[in-house]
Amino acid sequence: MENLETVHLQVKDIYYPPEEIKKECIVQNYEEMYKKSIENPDEFWSEVANELFWYQKWDKVLEWNIPYAKWFVGGKTNITYNCLDRHVLNGKRNKVAYIYVDEDGNEKKITYGELLELVNRLANGLKSLGVGKGDRVSIYMPNTIEAIASMLACARIGAIHSVVFAGFSEGALKLRINDAKAKVVITAAYTKRRGKKIPLLPTVKDAIKELDFVKKVIVWDRDNELSEEEYGSHYINFQKLIKSSSPVCEPEIMDAEDPLFILYTSGTTGKPKGVLHTTGGYMVNTYLTTKTVFNIKEDTIYWCTADIGWITGHSYIVYGPLANGATSVIMEGVPVYPHPGIWWEYVEKYRVNVFYTAPTAIRMLMRFGDEIPAKYDLSSLKILGSVGEPINPEAWIWYYKNIGREKAVVVDTWWQTETGAHMITTLPCYPSKPGKAGKPLFGVVPAVVDKEGNELPPNTVGHLVIKKPWPSMLRTCWGEPERYEKYWKEIPGGVYSAGDLASVDEDGYIIILGRADDVLSVAGHRIGNAEVESAIVEHPAVAEAAVIGKPNEIKGESIKAFVILKEGYSPSQELIIEIKETVKEVLGAIAVPDEVEFVDKLPKTRSGKIMRRVLRAKELGQELGDISTLED
Ligand code: WTA
Repeated sequence: MENLETVHLQVKDIYYPPEEIKKECIVQNYEEMYKKSIENPDEFWSEVANELFWYQKWDKVLEWNIPYAKWFVGGKTNITYNCLDRHVLNGKRNKVAYIYVDEDGNEKKITYGELLELVNRLANGLKSLGVGKGDRVSIYMPNTIEAIASMLACARIGAIHSVVFAGFSEGALKLRINDAKAKVVITAAYTKRRGKKIPLLPTVKDAIKELDFVKKVIVWDRDNELSEEEYGSHYINFQKLIKSSSPVCEPEIMDAEDPLFILYTSGTTGKPKGVLHTTGGYMVNTYLTTKTVFNIKEDTIYWCTADIGWITGHSYIVYGPLANGATSVIMEGVPVYPHPGIWWEYVEKYRVNVFYTAPTAIRMLMRFGDEIPAKYDLSSLKILGSVGEPINPEAWIWYYKNIGREKAVVVDTWWQTETGAHMITTLPCYPSKPGKAGKPLFGVVPAVVDKEGNELPPNTVGHLVIKKPWPSMLRTCWGEPERYEKYWKEIPGGVYSAGDLASVDEDGYIIILGRADDVLSVAGHRIGNAEVESAIVEHPAVAEAAVIGKPNEIKGESIKAFVILKEGYSPSQELIIEIKETVKEVLGAIAVPDEVEFVDKLPKTRSGKIMRRVLRAKELGQELGDISTLED
């Protein structure tokens, strides 16, 4: 912690946006607009919401019974109407919504008109399978137009989607399908990565074996290669379903507070939380933040490199950009295949204006050298976004110089699955500071406090909290309201505790230092220490395991596991390989520890809780801190 703190806080530089960009900014007066959003939230949010379509307007902007919020109370809308029909009816039928590209340079474009038709057909298909409002549908799909259409088809008919990142393996998928009790699963035959086809259907088949509430699985058979027997009565062919369904589907009229989706994210226990987002507030805030942070104009070409399996994909590949009628690039594949300039090749090819990625990717691409991006014409870029983990000043400056060529602005957006939308960042019209996320966005009232909730003076490290409800906040954790309430009880004062450590500088810029709880951030992915530990103990030789995060130059954090073996087993290289394999099977490749060390004992509190903090300090050669609760 100490190291990080000094590195970040040393940076004093301020970067002012170039005049050409500033001139074009939709928001010129951040301070004034922010002030209004806090002092007069009803008027502020009504004005934003009025830019969108509602079947019926709200009676009240906010009803707040801590910790339960209702936004746009009584309002009726459908998010897909705002994302699709609204544009089609406003002369944008033939505007491109997505340009899909893969690793091999294959391209597929879809217009707003075509996307609306695809979504409607699939929505009708879902209806024909008995899916209706409030039913859950799990989506286990590659980062493609078909995946986006699947999400929107659910939203069209009021079904709640639960997207599971296609890099997760059977165990993680099963847990999520089971928790949501999904009636239908939508999947694809395979996804593409590094030139290889990675099958998805077999994983789904294994995952649902014991889940008899799953009535149907819709399979996108991308190459028409599955045999008839593969289908049986349980499996439905995606393309056939679409062809046989009508292209007209009236949107379900949704209450502002009707659920839109569940997205599972890691918490401090072994079981992920099903973060629930609802319709109205989420729609309004993803619309507003996409528009203002990325300065979306009629001709903007926007590219967010996330995967639809994460919240960044939900808010900033799907709902935010579509609500703004933008043209987005999406890619299926990795940033370094077939060559480490592939992203820059596509930025040049499609004249991308806004590029949004994660620090881990920036650090990885940095390693290949400045000459790689230098080969491409990146002059179209105006805004460079960062998300998912703290961006170190070195990576920030590299991004700014080598990708933005000092002509684009960097926006470092802090937010979470739970917040639904950006919370802290500088807007493109506003000066930014490398390594500091920046200022609160509209309606967001952050503070840095101690454990008792007392606000701390500038440049002191404390807990990041949000003091007021905001429209796109999570409404609950699926089936576990007590876990939801915990966010608001963790720190006294009726505030939302983000679980991050932060500090505010003398100009009010907020710097995020990392998680304060037992959650890892590996290559920008959120993974609970406890999740990895419970995966490890699934190996028959393991008695107990503790997992820590170690600073890693590229991934931010890497995973190290300490393992106690059961009686009769002795440490071996083979066991290390097997343990890693077990984690891969249970959770997926992203959660596999880089290091496994066998130990006889783990540091525990007297009540038997593993003190990961002590393990970490020992591993990194730091002071052990307060160990008064240590058992011995
Ligand atoms: C971290 C991703 C520093 C943070 C949108 C947060 C960040 C967690 C930033 C949420 C940022 C996200 N600077 N840290 N700009 N953005 N984080 O739910 O620790 O996958 O709590 O949402 O990522 O991860 P999640």
